[in-house]
Amino acid sequence: MSDVATRRPKQDWVAWHAAYDDPNSALSWRLAVIQARIRSVLDGLPDGLIRAVSLCAGQGRDLIGALVGHPRRGDLSGRLVEPDPHNAAAAARLVRESSLSRIEVVTADAVGTVGWQGSSAWRANGLVAVRTGSTSASTSLPGCPPGG
Ligand SMILES: C[S@@+](CC[C@H](N)C(=O)[O-])C[C@H]1O[C@@H](n2cnc3c(N)ncnc32)[C@H](O)[C@@H]1O
Repeated sequence: MSDVATRRPKQDWVAWHAAYDDPNSALSWRLAVIQARIRSVLDGLPDGLIRAVSLCAGQGRDLIGALVGHPRRGDLSGRLVEPDPHNAAAAARLVRESSLSRIEVVTADAVGTVGWQGSSAWRANGLVAVRTGSTSASTSLPGCPPGG
């Protein structure tokens, strides 16, 4: 096979999240930057309902973590899309523990239509779209940078 992508080892997206356990890891620093960026976007949105869509959501630590203590958290509804069942379950647990009852987690591939069924996110006025990349998604979602 000549396609480089087909020779790429399969990424373990559950193991990938383990680096978050070390607060000094590069991944933890990256997470802090992303959360700060999300909070800054929320700060700038007008009053009213905010809908959020997180593709490649993983365990939801970026979006859900950014909402901790944020004054707009009560205005947020939306959806996290993550195909790995373990990560999706961890995201759902985080959502539940954070009492964000209007955020749902869908275990699905963001590339297909399943992850979008029943969602009205794209019709929102205030939309926060979080897409913090992945190697596999980058091949099918244009603009999703490899490696997150
Ligand atoms: C780099 S991690 C980022 C996780 C999270 N956004 C974060 O920053 O903590 C990428 C995640 O995208 C998921 N993913 C890979 N391909 C996907 C696809 N086609 N649709 C949705 N999610 C996908 C993986 O399972 C993995 O959990």
